[in-house]
Amino acid sequence: MHPMLSTAVKAARRAASIINRASRNVDILTVETKSHSDFVTEVDRAAEQAIIAVLLDAYPNHAILAEESGAQGESEYEWIIDPLDGTTNFLHGFPQYAVSIALLHKGVLSQAVIYDPVRNDLFTASRGRGAFLNDRRLRVSKRTQLKEALIGTGFPFRDFAHLDAYMGMLRDMMQKTAGVRRPGSAALDLAYTAAGRFDGFWEIGLNAWDIAAGCLLIQEAGGLVGDLQGNETYLQSGNIVAGNPKLFSQLLQTLAPHLTEGLKS
Ligand code: IPD
Ligand code: CA
Ligand code: CA
Repeated sequence: MHPMLSTAVKAARRAASIINRASRNVDILTVETKSHSDFVTEVDRAAEQAIIAVLLDAYPNHAILAEESGAQGESEYEWIIDPLDGTTNFLHGFPQYAVSIALLHKGVLSQAVIYDPVRNDLFTASRGRGAFLNDRRLRVSKRTQLKEALIGTGFPFRDFAHLDAYMGMLRDMMQKTAGVRRPGSAALDLAYTAAGRFDGFWEIGLNAWDIAAGCLLIQEAGGLVGDLQGNETYLQSGNIVAGNPKLFSQLLQTLAPHLTEGLKS
């Protein structure tokens, strides 16, 4: 395993032990509302600090972009961290959440970890070296037809500016595919796409920390990732479509009629 990846795994496990301990007593957590339906707890913050401590201990000069504490440092190496993706699920004891850590080197995704502390599922990828679930190599699914495909998504919940466009996308996806799921952790949704559990995924209005690790996992598992028009701006726009190579263009075609100006790259 690449040494930077093994440092990221160590950091993710450290965060996961904080999350697991707190999951037994979610009722006593102090929950703050960042904005409408956007919650943060001391668990998110403690997990994030634990991750940053492990990373900076190994690589003191690297830069950090973390959901709760923001950006620090300047370097050609930048770690992108979501300490707890799926906070709403976590708060409800709904067992679908994860730690997500990615490394950008000169702007290119190079290492990725998504760790599901409930199932002890460790998803990892290094650029050029493949994607893994624990020690099993991952490949995206082989399905070629939308009507057989299971598609993941996330509903808008904080910003409803694109709700009408999204509802149009959802209506078409529901009719054209075998099913649509909204599990509630974008990082795990992308890891599941890399693992072939989902044939494809789309969501609008995400942040870089929700998707950075998942994008590398999918690419290393043989899948494609783009923004809503298939271009490469997804880390900046937070609008993302992903899937196996056969379904990717069919997903883009299904979404295309609903792209209002604000959703084009
Ligand atoms: C959220 C989850 C969710 C997605 C939201 C994200 P958080 O992350 O990934 O699935 O729909 O857009 O913000 O806030 O729980 O880290
Ligand atoms: Ca998130
Ligand atoms: Ca989070």
